[in-house]
Amino acid sequence: MADAPKSAKLSIGDDTYDLPMHSPTAGPDVLDIRKLYGQAGVFTYDPGYTSTASCDSTITFIDGDKGVLLHRGYPIDQLAEKSHYLEVCYLLLYGDLPSAKQLEEFENLVTNHTMLHEQMVYFYRGFRRDAHPMAIMTGVVGAMSAFYHDSTDIHDAHQREVASIRLIAKMPTIAAWAYKFSIGQPFIYPRNDLDYASNFLRMCFAVPAEDYEVNPILSRAMDRIFTLHADHEQNASTSTVRLASSSGANPFACIAAGIACLWGPAHGGANQACLEMLKEIGSVERIPEFIARAKDKNDPFRLMGFGHRVYKNFDPRATVMKQSADEVLELLGVENNPVLAVAKELEQAALADPYFAEKKLFPNVDFYSGVILEAMGFPTSMFTPIFALSRTVGWISQWKEMIADPQNKIGRPRQLYLGETQRDYVDIERR
Ligand code: CMC
Repeated sequence: MADAPKSAKLSIGDDTYDLPMHSPTAGPDVLDIRKLYGQAGVFTYDPGYTSTASCDSTITFIDGDKGVLLHRGYPIDQLAEKSHYLEVCYLLLYGDLPSAKQLEEFENLVTNHTMLHEQMVYFYRGFRRDAHPMAIMTGVVGAMSAFYHDSTDIHDAHQREVASIRLIAKMPTIAAWAYKFSIGQPFIYPRNDLDYASNFLRMCFAVPAEDYEVNPILSRAMDRIFTLHADHEQNASTSTVRLASSSGANPFACIAAGIACLWGPAHGGANQACLEMLKEIGSVERIPEFIARAKDKNDPFRLMGFGHRVYKNFDPRATVMKQSADEVLELLGVENNPVLAVAKELEQAALADPYFAEKKLFPNVDFYSGVILEAMGFPTSMFTPIFALSRTVGWISQWKEMIADPQNKIGRPRQLYLGETQRDYVDIERR
């Protein structure tokens, strides 16, 4: 953390407190309130953490006003165009772009850990056939700590490294098998001659009776979707992973907690909710009705895939995703896709509406991703598992950073208590 040359003064009644300030390499200055309670006996109040930096980090930076997203300093649009997912994984995990040799070694390492312990097959079979793949993923990833005992000691750097590689390598197999199980098809095992994205596509779409020939264009589009979701600073699921990990829990338990948090429709579940919404709208004529509903404070409906806590200009991931949607649909020969047509018209209608302009609501990463994933053949229930697969490297990078930080201590927020003060127990016959 940078030195703290600046400070702020806080007055409470007649007393004044000096609060140190930290200057980041980018972004707003940060007021350090760690000693505030000890000195002044007050808590700060920030539900939803709208003004709170929960940690220091060197991994990902977002400038929400300018629509900038940097991983280790590199802009996401450059990474999406010039790099690929495993290279971005290396960058997030180790801090710099790899040399050709480092990349080759890393890719080999990941490729050689893609198989799951064979006994996990029985674990899958315990789920109901109609289980949501996110439910299966949460369970299976949590259960990894029961299968990989040799990588659960968080105090051992080697074990942390092995757990990291295992999670990144096995997540496509875990997600693909969750899908296969839900549609009643046999599991397809990974193949070491395929790249990360191609392997995932094949494990989802091949059957023992007929192999699946991976279209390199679809594989590239899949890889780009992985890259665009790889990390996103201290979002809800990443903060969940950090909080779970702060107690010393093992990495598989922590990542399972992240997956559970990601599932919600305000977070990673928005991609499924968004495509379902676009289909429900159905035709451009119905767009005004849904815009009106999104603006109606008495209606809980929100435009899914719209708005973001941090981005108040545009989400740079959405820009790349929109281009990808056009490219993929054209290459697949899908002309006049009605869902894409509704999405584009809805985007225009919302951007032209003062409600969305005033509240700075723009399409986010989830607005166009579902259109691409559906064109590739995925059901909506697989959209959030694909997000979870992609984000695993971000969760792990943040987890590793946190464990290595000597300032790491258990996360323990306080509260503004508004309940009853102490009162005496009343016997049941007197209530
Ligand atoms: N449609 C209609 N109104 C909205 C929307 C929306 N999608 N998003 C925010 N608003 C309104 C909201 O009603 C509020 O109005 P008011 O100030 O009058 O009460 C104002 O905008 C601010 O909203 P907020 O809920 O206080 O903002 P937030 O930062 O807490 O929430 C959000 C951010 C992403 C949860 C929210 O914009 C939302 O629910 N969007 C739809 C779900 C979605 O697409 N989520 C994916 C986010 S990106 C991927 C990811 O992180 O996983």
